[in-house]
Amino acid sequence: MCGIIGYCGARAAKPILLDGLKRLEYRGYDSAGLAVAEGNQLNLIRAVGKVSDLEKKGIARPLPGHCGIAHTRWATHGRPSEENAHPHCDCTRKVSIVHNGIIENYLDLKEELLARKHVFSSETDSEVIAHLIEEYFEADLETALLKTVQRLEGTFGIAAIHADCDRQVVIVRRGSPIIIGIGEGEYFAASDANALLPYTQKIISLNDDEMAVLHPSGYHIKNLNNEFLQKEIEIREGRDEQADKKGFEHFMLKEIFEQPQAIENAFRGRLIESEGVSKLGGLEPVMERLKNVKKLVIVSCGTSYYAGLCGRYIFESLSELHVEVEVASEFRYRKLKMDGDTAVLALSQSGETADTIAAIREAKRKGALILGVVNVVGSGIAQITDAGVYNHAGPEFGVASTKIYTSQLVVLTLMALLIGRYQGLSFTEGSAVIQAVKKLPRQVKRILTDIEHIKKIAQEYARYEDFLFIGRQHNFPTAMEGALKLKEISYIHAEGYPAGEMKHGPISLIDENFPTVAIVSQDSTFDKMLSNIQEIKARNGRVLAVASEDDERIAGLCDDVIRVPETLPLLQPVLNIVPLQLFAYFIARFKGCDIDKPRNLAKSVTVE
Ligand code: G6P
Repeated sequence: MCGIIGYCGARAAKPILLDGLKRLEYRGYDSAGLAVAEGNQLNLIRAVGKVSDLEKKGIARPLPGHCGIAHTRWATHGRPSEENAHPHCDCTRKVSIVHNGIIENYLDLKEELLARKHVFSSETDSEVIAHLIEEYFEADLETALLKTVQRLEGTFGIAAIHADCDRQVVIVRRGSPIIIGIGEGEYFAASDANALLPYTQKIISLNDDEMAVLHPSGYHIKNLNNEFLQKEIEIREGRDEQADKKGFEHFMLKEIFEQPQAIENAFRGRLIESEGVSKLGGLEPVMERLKNVKKLVIVSCGTSYYAGLCGRYIFESLSELHVEVEVASEFRYRKLKMDGDTAVLALSQSGETADTIAAIREAKRKGALILGVVNVVGSGIAQITDAGVYNHAGPEFGVASTKIYTSQLVVLTLMALLIGRYQGLSFTEGSAVIQAVKKLPRQVKRILTDIEHIKKIAQEYARYEDFLFIGRQHNFPTAMEGALKLKEISYIHAEGYPAGEMKHGPISLIDENFPTVAIVSQDSTFDKMLSNIQEIKARNGRVLAVASEDDERIAGLCDDVIRVPETLPLLQPVLNIVPLQLFAYFIARFKGCDIDKPRNLAKSVTVE
């Protein structure tokens, strides 16, 4: 979603801002802009579309200033247009701001500011911030921003500059991440550390209700009570991954191929074979409490939600926990009883998803133990959970999540194994899970060697406009995730359904133009899946099956088959999703879609 970058130092700001924006592109956006302070003036460039469009617009304007802010916008209030793109200015064009989040009371503030003769030039909620700063500005931007944020309701990560405040960038956070990057005689601000990696690995993350003033001569951090704070500098490991697709055409394909490694990273050092159990250091501080938990509520969004649905079957296979799975944005509307017996588990790649954060806050209020499985180290969710486990899968840039999904399934398996072994799960059963987990990287590699076959099938199916994905039990969430992958990147209508539910509705859609992808594993649901496939064939529907390597019956029934190795039923979804990721990828490629940055979608959704 929206991204922020800011710079002050000895170098020209514009190229650094543009480069930073490119590194934030993966988050998803529809317009972009930058403002550079120079002399006592602000210069603005904004454009609808890509950062490259902004760059083209800026070619004729060198803007030599050394301080500036920039933004990629994902429209919420007001359509994507040049006027609505950030940065926004006040009436005097001295103040310029970029903002992530939503100002919930902006209409009241706007009314008040209009009454005071302010002139607005956008439909956004964010513009009120610039005008409020104008109202409160006397001599310094810091005080004006401090006064401004006292008036704001909602969430924000803000970076502001003022033409009269020489090379100063002031930032503030409430609910929307913003960090400081520390260089040699230069400072950066960003909503995401990835944007800064080529410049510095020294990062300070602001917590909610903290602000920072950056100037080439130094920085200071305060809370909103105007008290100075000392914060530790973290060293963010990691290479400049953004620039490096390692020869792959898209990040999504690269990340699909990174799955064997990501899965291994998820279990490396976390298996105790001699005891048939897992070891998750991040959960140790709450282990005593966790042993007594009776109910687990998994909250997440998007692909992480489908991983949660799969997690329910995993926990039910290995532990005695009662498991519920909730879409994070719906969590607050449930009247769930929660007490010391309940743990709420947030699943999130980014650790920034606003709905998931809101759900955690709600669960905290009710006294549940809060756990997280998060990929981005030090992210918001990682900070507000009581305990958790990192995926260690490396950065994921493709908007359509792939390697985190399979990594999440493995981490959930390790969690269920850990809890299950304190309950009824035997050493033999635990050992079988461990052996199966260890085989997964090799098995995924084997599926990836089938790429040409999957590509060929995708080419044949690329002409259809609707798809049904079906599966039962562990493979029902796989059907949902397979359909999501297809619609996210190829814009083809696809529905994921539990196969048994097909006869209650979706079967009416089936004809020769409405193909079905059936996920058929050799488990207790096998015969019933074959009956469902026959029902589709009887209605002239084309069927592509994802089936086990040694399934001899499936080929005679279906039009096309993609084979996958077999594992324990609870882990089968880790393997079954891989060909469906490739299937969606190639269909999107045949259709010429922008795979890593699909329209209207964002990698991190930081608004509720
Ligand atoms: C967005 C992304 C999805 C992701 C979802 C949840 O919708 O486009 O790929 O699954 O957010 O994100 P999270 O970071 O919380 O896993």
